[in-house]
Amino acid sequence: MRKQNLKQSTAKNIKLQTKHIILIVILSVMSGRSVSAQETNKAIENKVKSLLSQMTLEEKVGQMTQVDFTVIGVYKQQNAEGQIDPVKLDDAVLKHHAGSILNAPFTPDNKAQSVETWRKMIRTVQDAAARTRLKIPVIYGIDAIHGATYTQNSVLFPQAINMAATFNAELAFKEGEITAREVRASGLQWNFSTVMDIGRQPLWPRLWETFGEDVHLATVMGTSYIKGHQGDDFSAADKAPTCLKHYVGYSYPLNGKDRTPAWIGERMLREYFLPTFEAGVKAGSPTVMVNSAEVDGIPGHANHHYLTTILRGELGFKGIAVSDWADIERLYTRDKMAASPKEAVKIAVMAGVDMSMVPFDFSFYDLLIDLVKSGEVPMSRIDEAVSRILTVKHQAGLFDSKPLLPVEGNFATAEAIETNRQAARESIILAKNDHNILPLKKDASILVAGPTANLLSVMNGGWTITWQGATEYLYPQEKLTVLEAIQEKSAGKVTYVGGGSFYAPIDIQKVADEAQNHDVILLSLGEHPYTETLGNIESLNLDQAQVDLANAAIATGKPVVLLTLGGRPRIITSIAERASGVILGFLPGMEGGEAIADILYGDYNPNGRLPITYPRNTNGITPYDYKPIESFELNRYNPLYPFGHGLSYTTFETSGLKVEKDKINQGENINVTVNVKNTGPLTGKEAVLVYINDVAASVTRPNKQLKAFKKVELNPGQTESLSFTLTPHDLSFIGVDLKRIVEPGDFKVMVGNETVGFTVMK
Ligand code: BGC
Repeated sequence: MRKQNLKQSTAKNIKLQTKHIILIVILSVMSGRSVSAQETNKAIENKVKSLLSQMTLEEKVGQMTQVDFTVIGVYKQQNAEGQIDPVKLDDAVLKHHAGSILNAPFTPDNKAQSVETWRKMIRTVQDAAARTRLKIPVIYGIDAIHGATYTQNSVLFPQAINMAATFNAELAFKEGEITAREVRASGLQWNFSTVMDIGRQPLWPRLWETFGEDVHLATVMGTSYIKGHQGDDFSAADKAPTCLKHYVGYSYPLNGKDRTPAWIGERMLREYFLPTFEAGVKAGSPTVMVNSAEVDGIPGHANHHYLTTILRGELGFKGIAVSDWADIERLYTRDKMAASPKEAVKIAVMAGVDMSMVPFDFSFYDLLIDLVKSGEVPMSRIDEAVSRILTVKHQAGLFDSKPLLPVEGNFATAEAIETNRQAARESIILAKNDHNILPLKKDASILVAGPTANLLSVMNGGWTITWQGATEYLYPQEKLTVLEAIQEKSAGKVTYVGGGSFYAPIDIQKVADEAQNHDVILLSLGEHPYTETLGNIESLNLDQAQVDLANAAIATGKPVVLLTLGGRPRIITSIAERASGVILGFLPGMEGGEAIADILYGDYNPNGRLPITYPRNTNGITPYDYKPIESFELNRYNPLYPFGHGLSYTTFETSGLKVEKDKINQGENINVTVNVKNTGPLTGKEAVLVYINDVAASVTRPNKQLKAFKKVELNPGQTESLSFTLTPHDLSFIGVDLKRIVEPGDFKVMVGNETVGFTVMK
């Protein structure tokens, strides 16, 4: 007995001791870490100071200059091998001291380079940097927007709008990890991603580059990506610095066209457009790229208030503010804000731009040197910018001259491709499923029609192999289009009537004739790939040719499943209303075809949710977090599908919503619990979304706002209890005096069909 007790107490002691040891280890690791992080920062600061003190004005301004690859590349119609002209390289790096290079070699079709070619190119560039007086490495930047865009056979994920639809932060984290690894395996060092703009203007041709219309969702997905991409220390061989784009207010052009004015008041800016950048800075992203357009009449590159007062003063950002493409000279050529190119450089640098993406010459370099020599730009501002650039180069480990990350095990691994497929599956939204038309039986006879059924480009969008992503023949042959993936899975007859308003005319008669021999029509509509200004449109309506095809398909009387692919919510109302099933695919990436087929046939149970409001009509662009006035009297939020909409092949029920307390003090957190049950026949994943409403406030508040979400996987009949913590920040808003406040009063918490309340006390 005593022995037994002794044994128990000894076991307890050992357990306790172990716990203590673990605690001590954790504490010492933590404190060791922070000490060493501090030491590293101090060491970097000293190195930067010492380097700066040795630099000439020309060397400093060179660091602030970023040029395109064409400035160093061999001029060739087909520079597929990424050949570098040694004379041009020396001119850029040794004579003009260029601090950064970007982009892929220009060829008529902008073909992506192999991973080996990229490694060779970057080595050549860094060898030139090593021959400079102070041996300051060049930082090579690239738009690895949904994976390593310009490296052949890289893992290309669903675009951000789809990643947001997964409501799965872990997938965004993994995308960040995999992208960083593939960028680094390609020798590249800086990723111009992630886009932290909020997608509240559906016409905007870069909507799909955003994580959707909601601030909380975009914050969680964007910061998870950054953490995956950078880890704790982005000097690691498989990590790289990210870039927050496009600071700030770029995504809300009044007329919907890219690079046109936004009119965003400061309250709106602080409520909707600034918080994601603030979170990105907190998550440790060391660079931001500046808004290419203008807000409230001030071009992004001239906005001292945004770039310096807010970004540095309030957000505490210490890194590099890089211009967007040619946007400093555009203050003169486009905006007529500067009277000369020189004045444009002065305005941008003094507003707070540290590095100019010039990108084709050394005009910025020459003009800025003149401006410093004439005293119009103080040396202190140059030193500030260059210190930031050198600091990030140190933090990124560029001075450490480590060997490149091996390709083997880090590039296009089977595991990464599987993660990509999972991300694609979770990003696809089943919007309508009348009479369980889906999943299809494997032996069903299917007529596939429409312009997006047999192309990979329409599932990937811009920033895929090429800038616009539209060069279909460059896509990897082994990846499957929707049609090919269906053909692979089907045990029935699959007939394809191709064409569409893009690439080929639609044979409507053939669709009508063929339909008679099939059980169901899969109508694959949407958009061709695009990005930036080339994607501008006049209307969200689908083109007439696609509408005609849809009408012909529906007129056959056969059940129609509508699949949409593309970056924007094009108006599909009349088609969707008459179709039996609707799948919103957006841009699911390189594994999209297989993921869509998995869902069509029920090999995967869909769980994507809309990260935007899907408009019913072209002008119905009210977001889900509309103000009371937008649903007052005759006004209504009446989308085709609301934000958060998405069906499953099983059913879920949330119940028992509770807040931990009826009353809290200002500054306190409050916990919320809710049960979620799988009430249907299949295992599935469900994203549980927690909304709040501030019942009465001194500034009008949205009818609801998402403040937390969790995705769970449940077997049939299984229930899980979820808990969420709402913080004072979640309850806050931008008050009358433009400061963030929490006002005492009543709040509602809403999950599923339930609402509970609590009060914040005075
Ligand atoms: C885009 C940026 C991009 C840059 C470099 C610009 O046109 O607006 O998003 O990072 O080009 O390619």
